[in-house]
Amino acid sequence: MTAAPRTFRIAAIPADGVGKEVVAAGRAVLDALAEISKGSAAPFAFAWEEFPWGCEFYERTGKMIDDDGLEQLKDFDAIYFGAVGWPTVPDHVSLWGLRLKICQNFDQWANIRPVHFLPGVQSPLRKADDTELDWVVVRENSEGEYAGLGGRNLSGRGPGGEVAVQSALFTEVGCERIMRFAFDLARTRSRRKVSSVTKSNAQQYGMVLWDDVFKRVAADYPDVETESVLVDAMSAKFVLHPEDLSVVVASNLNADILSDLGSALAGSLGLAASANLNPERRFPSMFEPVHGSAPDIAGQGLANPIGAVGSAALMLEHFGLPDQAARLDKAIEATTAAGILTRDVGGTATTEDVTKALIDALNV
Ligand code: NAI
Ligand code: MG
Repeated sequence: MTAAPRTFRIAAIPADGVGKEVVAAGRAVLDALAEISKGSAAPFAFAWEEFPWGCEFYERTGKMIDDDGLEQLKDFDAIYFGAVGWPTVPDHVSLWGLRLKICQNFDQWANIRPVHFLPGVQSPLRKADDTELDWVVVRENSEGEYAGLGGRNLSGRGPGGEVAVQSALFTEVGCERIMRFAFDLARTRSRRKVSSVTKSNAQQYGMVLWDDVFKRVAADYPDVETESVLVDAMSAKFVLHPEDLSVVVASNLNADILSDLGSALAGSLGLAASANLNPERRFPSMFEPVHGSAPDIAGQGLANPIGAVGSAALMLEHFGLPDQAARLDKAIEATTAAGILTRDVGGTATTEDVTKALIDALNV
């Protein structure tokens, strides 16, 4: 008798632009993986529910998400997200209305963004040809510069007279939990090192608090090497000495910028995976490619699905299926190594071609 499959309930939110194309690709690859598990000792399956939220939903309803949307999502095992944003809706409305709303309310405070170099994909870094490069950006995902605190006022002064305040929030609790997460992650890697990134020379309150907490937490991890680097210097280091990086922990804005730089160095924004984790598992975590909705290429079959599929691998790890995650990562490597590449990484394959190749590679 075969065992009943362990079923994971996943809320899919493709949202906008290429988000729809890459979520469809990721779902197809995950379902193929589940199919292969049938009849094995540990079969698993995915029960999907898709939600229509995003900019088209906004145009119809005036909302980015249903009023009780978070309530609808809260009991899923995970959320699989595409990308939000479309030229018809101001970006701050769409991002805050959907993605940041989910991240903040579900306390997904750790955003993990691996910078992974793939065989067959050319990096703009010449060094990548003969140096082992592999690091992870750990982004504080609940406060910092994206705390959403501030306001606009005094427009009554007339044209040119308005003021705006955008405050960054740094709490000891918020700094400490992301740093412990980074140190624990470093302990699982061959290079046990955490690089902390701030701009504490100029931002003398919040980021000096960050530095102080970093020193205090580091004392609990004497086996882990540390460094503190200013964000401008770190962006140069990403390009010039990336072999010196393992885990890079940074505030919400700094890590957001650095992770795009990292994925560009690995070859394309379309390759980068990410996980928004609520490590306590009080709420579902959310898995999404780093890239946005790419209106310039949406609907043309040009989107690289690898960032979304890599994010699905992070989801499998979160589900406690590390072997399946590794299988997905291997399928990605086999596909790029075989030269089946979308246009952003120099190839001519379509989203569908790459998805099919990934599924074929699972069966090997
Ligand atoms: P973007 O990431 O959508 O695009 C930047 C560049 O990367 C474009 O040239 C695009 O064609 C390319 N690109 C992105 N994903 C790709 C993929 N899978 N395959 C091949 N090429 C890919 O960033 P952009 O243009 O700044 O923003 C577009 C919209 O996305 C905006 O509305 C923005 O607010 C939103 N956005 C949403 C995010 C999210 O939902 N997490 C993250 C970043 C941006
Ligand atoms: Mg970003």
